Amino acid sequence: MSKPLKQIHLAAHFPGVNNTTVWSDPASGSHIEFSSFAHFARTAERAKFDFLFLAEGLRLREQGGKIYDLDVVGRPDTFTVLSALAAVTDRLGLTGTINSTFNEPYEVARQFASLDHLSGGRAAWNVVTSWDAFTGENFRRGGFLPQAERYSRAKEFLATAHELFDSWHGDEILADQETGVFLRDAKAGAFVHRGQHFDIHGRFNVPRSPQGRPVIFQAGDSEEGREFAASDADAIFSRHATLEAGRAFYTDVKRRLAKYGRRPDQLLILPAATFTLADTDEEARELAKEVRRQQVSGATALRHLEFVWNRDLSGYDPDGPLPDIDPDVTSRHLAEGRAQVRMYRDPLATAREWRELAAAHNWSIRDLVIETGNRQNFIGSAETIARTIDEYVQNDASDGFILVPHVTPTGLDAFADKVVPLLQERGVFRTDYEGPTLRDHLGLVHPDGLGDRRAAS
Ligand SMILES: Cc1cc2nc3c(=O)[nH]c(=O)nc-3n(C[C@H](O)[C@H](O)[C@H](O)COP(=O)(O)O)c2cc1C
Repeated sequence: MSKPLKQIHLAAHFPGVNNTTVWSDPASGSHIEFSSFAHFARTAERAKFDFLFLAEGLRLREQGGKIYDLDVVGRPDTFTVLSALAAVTDRLGLTGTINSTFNEPYEVARQFASLDHLSGGRAAWNVVTSWDAFTGENFRRGGFLPQAERYSRAKEFLATAHELFDSWHGDEILADQETGVFLRDAKAGAFVHRGQHFDIHGRFNVPRSPQGRPVIFQAGDSEEGREFAASDADAIFSRHATLEAGRAFYTDVKRRLAKYGRRPDQLLILPAATFTLADTDEEARELAKEVRRQQVSGATALRHLEFVWNRDLSGYDPDGPLPDIDPDVTSRHLAEGRAQVRMYRDPLATAREWRELAAAHNWSIRDLVIETGNRQNFIGSAETIARTIDEYVQNDASDGFILVPHVTPTGLDAFADKVVPLLQERGVFRTDYEGPTLRDHLGLVHPDGLGDRRAAS
């Protein structure tokens, strides 16, 4: 008997942080006006996507006092945006990335429980630790906590938030038409948490929300990050979106679940994925090349090279050859404290390899950065993209994708109109939502073992 087809999960990532957006495209609009968020969310909901996703960059990337020229700099607060979107959508899940290193559990638990109430059970929390000291400088603690301790804090942070969510059982409140709302159980919301990172007690003041707890995402890729996901998360936001890397990651993470008494289907793997869609595969390939060029300006290419060279290269022509001086490996790194510094452990070897590549292909600095950078994950006609996404999911490279378009806010429109119907025809994507909550869309059980408590009562 053949295996039943897996159902694909799709999400819409509003490109709010890095240099994905092609600003020169005439369709490119605001990344901060509400109309952009609303258009993006409504498109995702029209296409029956599982959820909208917001990443979070708590600090603008900069080098030598200059902000990266193509990064999104306007970054409004996650909860404010998601709450506003809850009012203009009905079914779409709302996932926010919120840091566990610089926040406090009481505050974050209140915000997510509130969002879950306001949206009728559609909230999800992507728990990130953002280990770099560079981000920490925005907060009073500076480069607070080494990486391993950040995961210990993240784990306790999440456990504490769960204690707060669970401090209400769902039936403590009585609504009375004349007197308003009153408490039946005087213990409602009472909590005590004593741990290594948090020592708090009091009373949680948001009643149990429709999903009981928000859906939990995890994004870190290290051993600690993967273990945290395996023990505590409902889904992973990963960076492994190719067939081979996706399959390796999928197998690795899913096999970790058993030791926590969990089944493989209790953790969904959802990589971020970029795409270029056109009428034909050939047109899409041409367009994809053009998009990559627009995503790497001359200034972006120089900043990228400076990471490896650890020198100010602003005097170099990005359309000229690579520097013939070697990287500076003795001085303090010019971007010290930034997460990406770890990417190039041997700058001399990287510089040698890049010089050889550039010489062999006659590449300029900008060409090199474009060619060695990430290519779009899905490139082609609607038929090609639908077939490829389906093939990846059926072959366990993922359980679906979090799509990042290169134009805001209309970059998902064509995908919704052309690719989604083909996935529906293949019988691998919903034609309508089956339930009201994000847990329903993702096939996750309610923490109380029920469907939606309120719907059930
Ligand atoms: C695919 C992916 C997406 C991430 N998105 C964010 C984000 O939006 N905001 C953030 O502060 N950190 C983000 N992170 C950072 C992680 O939460 C984590 O702090 C970092 O990767 C270091 O942990 P690690 O060594 O386990 O990867 C992301 C990481 C990955 C792999």
